[in-house]
Amino acid sequence: MLLNDTSFIKLPLFIKGKVRDVYDLGESLLIVVTDRISAFDVVFDELIPDKGIVLNSIAAFWFDYTKSVVPNHVVSTNPAEYPQGLSAYAEELAGRSMLVKKIEMLPAECIVRGYLESSALKEYQQTGTVSGIKLPAGLQQGDKLPEPMFTPSTKAESGHDINITFDELVDIIGSNMAVQLRDKSLELYSYAAKYAESVGIILADTKFEFGISDGKLVVADEIFTPDSSRFWEKSEWKPGRAQKSFDKQYLREWLETLDWDKNPPAPALPQDIIEKTSAKYIEAYERLTGKALK
Ligand SMILES: Nc1ncnc2c1ncn2[C@@H]1O[C@H](COP(=O)(O)OP(=O)(O)OP(=O)(O)O)[C@@H](O)[C@H]1O
Ligand SMILES: [Mg+2]
Repeated sequence: MLLNDTSFIKLPLFIKGKVRDVYDLGESLLIVVTDRISAFDVVFDELIPDKGIVLNSIAAFWFDYTKSVVPNHVVSTNPAEYPQGLSAYAEELAGRSMLVKKIEMLPAECIVRGYLESSALKEYQQTGTVSGIKLPAGLQQGDKLPEPMFTPSTKAESGHDINITFDELVDIIGSNMAVQLRDKSLELYSYAAKYAESVGIILADTKFEFGISDGKLVVADEIFTPDSSRFWEKSEWKPGRAQKSFDKQYLREWLETLDWDKNPPAPALPQDIIEKTSAKYIEAYERLTGKALK
């Protein structure tokens, strides 16, 4: 069953993202992951079979795997346990939703990079630094960094997030909190990257969002999903060029063959791109969790 529109859920909408619809239950939130796909910040009309279930299940897997490192916002992934009549939608919500504790989010995106790519690569090429920190000369696109780096950004209400230095983060949330975010982010990344490597996947970089619950730091939003992280095939990793993104490689490669300017409206996706993309998402789930997607 494909899911695009979640308006059958008669609750106040907390936020409608590109991929996820989040509903407000007062003390908690219901995160519903649809089968929508976006590239270059544009959402396509077509849906990707099983994508919502894969993204939600990958996040659920990692929240569980990392809960000894940092507590998280998950209350339940079992629709039978959802409040406010939501169990009536158990069939629609199964596998693709999560009931989470609503918490006060901190105004920062906590990015950790193990490899040189995207905006960090751009900064390095211009100034030899990443997040203001000097790196050795001669690094290439996709190279492994000397050690994983914490490179925070602002959480923009609209438009693109802006990278900031650690000192700028201190100015925003204070040094005690900034140190905690940095240390916990680096710990989460290293813990998960080690596991991913063991199944042949490089976790190149990732983004966390943290909040405060009962005075304690909690990791929220999504964690180590292909939408919040770059996953690369370890056996195909070769610095000096762009790596193939594990999940959207067929989509991106096909889009590059068009003369689309990357502004809406999005082009119509051919069936074979939809199917190959879906298969890649399922493969990511199965490799990471060691389980078949039912
Ligand atoms: N436990 C939580 N309590 C409160 N807010 C949360 C919690 N978990 C996630 N959020 C917030 O919910 C929102 C989820 O939005 P979502 O990521 O789906 O859309 P977006 O960030 O606006 O767009 P995009 O699709 O580009 O990610 C984020 O603002 C996130 O900070
Ligand atoms: Mg988001």
